Amino acid sequence: MLEQIKKTLTDFDTEILELNSSDELETIRIKYLGRKGILSQLFDDFRKLTGNDKPIIGKTLNQAKIDITNKFNQVFEKFKSGTKASDFYIDLSLPGRKSLVGSKHIITQTLDEVKNIFKGLGFSIYEGPELESDYNNFEALNFPDDHPARDMQDTFFVSEKFLMRTHTSPVQIRLMKEKKPPLRAIMPGKVYRNEALSAKSYCLFHQVEGLLVDTDVTFAELKGTLVSFAQQLYGKDVKYRFRASFFPFTEPSAEVDIWWEQQGKEGRWLEILGCGMVDPNVLLNVGIDPEKYIGYAFGMGVERMALLKYGIDDIRLLFDNDIRFLKQFISV
Ligand code: DAH
Repeated sequence: MLEQIKKTLTDFDTEILELNSSDELETIRIKYLGRKGILSQLFDDFRKLTGNDKPIIGKTLNQAKIDITNKFNQVFEKFKSGTKASDFYIDLSLPGRKSLVGSKHIITQTLDEVKNIFKGLGFSIYEGPELESDYNNFEALNFPDDHPARDMQDTFFVSEKFLMRTHTSPVQIRLMKEKKPPLRAIMPGKVYRNEALSAKSYCLFHQVEGLLVDTDVTFAELKGTLVSFAQQLYGKDVKYRFRASFFPFTEPSAEVDIWWEQQGKEGRWLEILGCGMVDPNVLLNVGIDPEKYIGYAFGMGVERMALLKYGIDDIRLLFDNDIRFLKQFISV
């Protein structure tokens, strides 16, 4: 009998929550509280009982009637004011809703890793704005007006003189203007390019720039720093190569490739960064004497590193913010 009472209570709760109109409310009243309703039926059965547990059952049954009547009256009152039962009636016996716990996006995770490696190599962190002057983004970096190298980077111009930075290299200019050498910093941040969206390119991505300026700096040191970085990120056995390249702001310039093998695919060289010795013209533009100081610089794309690291083949997935994708990379 106790079971029956319990079931009556849950059935009543379910029915009253699914209620849509006051007509249905009346049907429920008759069903549970009416003269021939379920409760009165239960009381009839109760009277016929003889066992020892009769007092307990009686108490439970009385309480059930009180609960059902109270809930019914509550819903009845609210219905008059136009609210649905489920809008206010809270079933405290239901299990709580799980809240989603946020986690770091893989770009942030990769950025954190890069920052930590360079911190370990003695680099500090410096940041600049995403809206830049044409001067800092190009001119000061030795891209003269009409220089074809400007076409290497499709630019979002905001006005004739301002643009969304196409790389983090202008932060080098800001750093060298603000602080005196010796300098040793990395400069992470977002950059923008006016490119057609595809699996390989997006209009927004992240770069980490690096700059070291001192009195006695060699290409060998640049190489040592970058090799150490690649080994910490991709493992001691990473296969890499330095390939001669061109950037207006470094001379000589190089690009670093790493050998990439994915299961079931043929291995290939993938470019991960550009680097070089700071061009003396750049030092002159920021008022540093190139006779006295020398520097090296490098710049790398963070998305490229994240894609490689996690074996993802479409950059757009990084920006869709689809939780089904992101939750595969939750780090603890
Ligand atoms: N700014 C370059 C780019 O976006 C990358 C780069 C190359 C940065 C060489 C550097 C460097 O600092 O030395 O393609």
